[in-house]
Amino acid sequence: MKIERVGVVGCGLMGSGIAEVAARAGFEVMVRELDEAAIAAGRRRIERSMSRALEKEKVTAADNEAATARLQFTTELSDLADRDLVIEAIVENADAKAATFDALDAVCGDHAIFATNTSSLTVTDLAARTARPDRFVGLHFFNPVPVMRLVEVVPTLASDPDVVESVVAFGRALGKEPIVARDGSGFVVNLLLVPYMLDAVRQLERGVASIPDIDTAMRLGCGYPMGPFALADFVGLDTTLRIAEIMFDEYRESRYAPPPLLRRLVSLGRFGRKTGRGFYDYSGDEPVPLV
Ligand code: 3HC
Repeated sequence: MKIERVGVVGCGLMGSGIAEVAARAGFEVMVRELDEAAIAAGRRRIERSMSRALEKEKVTAADNEAATARLQFTTELSDLADRDLVIEAIVENADAKAATFDALDAVCGDHAIFATNTSSLTVTDLAARTARPDRFVGLHFFNPVPVMRLVEVVPTLASDPDVVESVVAFGRALGKEPIVARDGSGFVVNLLLVPYMLDAVRQLERGVASIPDIDTAMRLGCGYPMGPFALADFVGLDTTLRIAEIMFDEYRESRYAPPPLLRRLVSLGRFGRKTGRGFYDYSGDEPVPLV
């Protein structure tokens, strides 16, 4: 099963990164967004990332030009009709994802593989709502996609092993290190990472230490690139809450239960870096902690 033409549905934080790495790896990429404004925002995100990669001397200007030439944008799902692989990276909402795959089923060829970048919904539930559960897998990337080397490949009981093999090979072709994870909410990374972030919030609520001190502790004590609060702000507190709720719903274990402070911040629209405020305030030169 040769994958040459790739479709990416959604050009937000994750979709733009996926489109960028796929184009950079030599695939012809068609990106679908809802309207021209969303396309413009997605393009800007990709351009910023490409400039950063150039600044950091990870790529040449010619590499960026070649990758850009392999990227196309559309508002029509029907423009994905000739794709070998379509990766969905839209909002973390099962009905919205199912509706997207329903529309894709109607236009894409029988050979096309569908993949979802869901971070916490079960892949089986999404696959079961399509006409091609055998050609459906989870393909979970990490933020920032051009930097993080891991990709989780998540087959279901219905996935054709050849499809899984093709998607693993695709992950490698992107320069990522694929791992295969069982289909349970959270797969491997979020299953372990989300309770860790939630636990940090609980320890803050208990008054163990301040936000920057907990972050410093985990950075310097464990060598993590970011502390749990900086990371939660980076992932997005709304996203973290949503993932925690889905995982709690699946496992009913207290380690996945969202702590009250996380809910309060999300209620206030403080989603982290993307809104300028979360556990830190990012409006100045240096992030200022909430407490
Ligand atoms: N393209 C290619 N490479 C890039 C790049 C780009 N656009 N931007 C940066 N890089 C490279 C840099 O050259 C550098 O490479 P080097 O180590 O070889 O020198 C490396 O990436 C780090 O970049 P920077 O030095 O600019 O940045 P920092 O050192 O400040 O690191 C960070 C930033 C990579 C975000 C780091 O803090 C980090 O790894 N944080 C943790 C991120 C994380 O845990 N992500 C997973 C979140 S969970 C998730 O996504 C799952 C979802 O379901 C919630």
